[in-house]
Amino acid sequence: MNLTALHAFGAELLQANKIDSGKKDKAFAERFTQHLDTIESLFNEIYAGHPKRNESFDATLASIIHNYKERPATFLNKDIAKEKKGNWFLSNEITGMSLYVDRFAGSLKGLADKLDYFDELGVNFLHLMPVFESPAGESDGGYAVSNFRKVDERFGNNDDLNALIKKMNTQNMYLMLDIVLNHTSHHHEWAQKAKSGDPYYQDFFYFYDNRDIPNQLDQTMPEIFPESSPGSFTYIQECNKWVMTVFHNYQWDLNYSNPAVFVAMLDTVLHYANLGVDILRIDAPAFIWKQLGTTCQNLPQAHTLLRLIKQCVQVASPGMAILGEAIVAPDEIIKYFGTDNYTAKECDVAYNATQMALQWDAIATGDTRVMLSAQHPIMQKPFGCTWISYTRCHDDIGLGYDDYMIERAGFNPYQHRTFLKNYFAGWHEGSISAGALFSVNPKTNDARISGSLASLCGLEKAVEWKSEIEVENALRKIILMQAQTMFMGGIPMLFYGDDLAYTNDYSYLQDPGKSYDNRWMHRPVMNWERNEKRKDVDSFEHRIFNDTKKLIATRNALPVLSDTKNVTWMTPHNIHVAGFIRSNKANQLYCLFNYKNTASFVTWFAFKEHGERPSVLHDHWTGQDFKVGNDNEYFVLPPYSFAILESVESK
Ligand code: GLC
Repeated sequence: MNLTALHAFGAELLQANKIDSGKKDKAFAERFTQHLDTIESLFNEIYAGHPKRNESFDATLASIIHNYKERPATFLNKDIAKEKKGNWFLSNEITGMSLYVDRFAGSLKGLADKLDYFDELGVNFLHLMPVFESPAGESDGGYAVSNFRKVDERFGNNDDLNALIKKMNTQNMYLMLDIVLNHTSHHHEWAQKAKSGDPYYQDFFYFYDNRDIPNQLDQTMPEIFPESSPGSFTYIQECNKWVMTVFHNYQWDLNYSNPAVFVAMLDTVLHYANLGVDILRIDAPAFIWKQLGTTCQNLPQAHTLLRLIKQCVQVASPGMAILGEAIVAPDEIIKYFGTDNYTAKECDVAYNATQMALQWDAIATGDTRVMLSAQHPIMQKPFGCTWISYTRCHDDIGLGYDDYMIERAGFNPYQHRTFLKNYFAGWHEGSISAGALFSVNPKTNDARISGSLASLCGLEKAVEWKSEIEVENALRKIILMQAQTMFMGGIPMLFYGDDLAYTNDYSYLQDPGKSYDNRWMHRPVMNWERNEKRKDVDSFEHRIFNDTKKLIATRNALPVLSDTKNVTWMTPHNIHVAGFIRSNKANQLYCLFNYKNTASFVTWFAFKEHGERPSVLHDHWTGQDFKVGNDNEYFVLPPYSFAILESVESK
């Protein structure tokens, strides 16, 4: 359609749907008209040749209008408030926590009773791990959804979710929920109908009559869970066909080349916006487009679909930001913020999975050279977008940075990765870490790492060894890791339990629905009696809780830590120390992190290379002031410590 015809078509549609373009719905009508052209062109990029193109395009627009009309007044007002703030999610005053509702608080009602805990800590943003219906035993932690609109009975019901969200809103808290876009549970209604032979629903998935195409695809598709779910296809006896199952065999991949799938899932995205979601975590977006002869990850069409979703959200519920959970190679992650004409117009937020893994590299080696040699893709994040900055989450740690980055730092990639895996699995001589290898692929030698923050940092073994020195080191490492995460830029996302130094929880081994997946070792069940120990000054819980709380408060107090793309790495004068500057017009903050188990020395010259020549530096963490010395003198960082320094004169 040409632009004039398209706009006339849009205007008619608004009128037919009783949109008050002149008054009440003026802003919506303007957004609709402005974005229509882009929505159409993105839609056509994928579906132009499809026989159901026209009806699906109409259904897409109908879904946008319908969901806008359904949007509760509270969230319409919140949209306006957010728009006034600009990119609200860049703020230094947002700190998140990711948690399982049942393991954290029993139920949604229980969680609503725990909001004071978050307030005490300083957390004002919650990522609830998937809460929608998911069959027990075949749930992948909720990422195998059988009903996208019904809260799982394990957590309560839809009213409980709404009540929680309402309470969070009155306490000015932000919310993140997942949309599991790539697949459904095999118990989902669509999958059930497909199983029983309904061709309409078989087309919602990737079905094959025989192994011909699956065999070809298997040649190029990497396995995600090689141990528990090898290959990417599952035989379905009921209909004597094969279906694509990239993750577990009970998670069926949705077929986005069918526009009916897109329309149905977009409608769910917009429905979640109307529940009051502030950031929507799009699960596994790298996988949503499949093509023979490719890895079926990060394909251009996956980006087009995300851009299309972003545009539709921008029209119907502009206050909801989009997070793309793309845990892929550094050069690929950055593309989820959009490229070329779509720069900063795809996902608003992405996980800084590269930086997370690099910090684990540094804690194991005591050396920051790999971290530095891998910064260039991270630094390309466009203005207006941000990271989820994290140390641990519910998933494993993948050493996802590239081999050339390790080489450039002076190491042999194979030996380096082998060392890291052995170190965190606790196999390396003297390793204090108590993690485990996850998804070991004997064909490729790949493996990822499971384990809680505290156990990976050595607390579990240190206690077992009754070593006071190692306990002290472990506690320091935990806070060092969290500190770099907090000050690096992006929304810090804590993982529940890490704020109280929880070590691995091995109870998952007794549950057949979990024992095949060692990621459960770092998904603890909260013990609220134990959590009271945070008030006991002699406990680890107290030390870690208080330091985490202090980190959040320190970050909240320093607007220069808003993510305005203002990170500059300092010259690496000492390989054990990661140092960068966060700056704005008024301030320059020197953030230094010592990954070594001994003191590290940094020449005072390092602080004079970046425009300022400070004479006294104030450390926001310890409260100490340091007189800046000569270039042949040093600023000394104790073992596993950090400093957040600001020139006192510039204040
Ligand atoms: C994401 C989730 C992970 C899950 C996978 C499949 O990566 O974080 O936990 O297993 O998607 O849904």
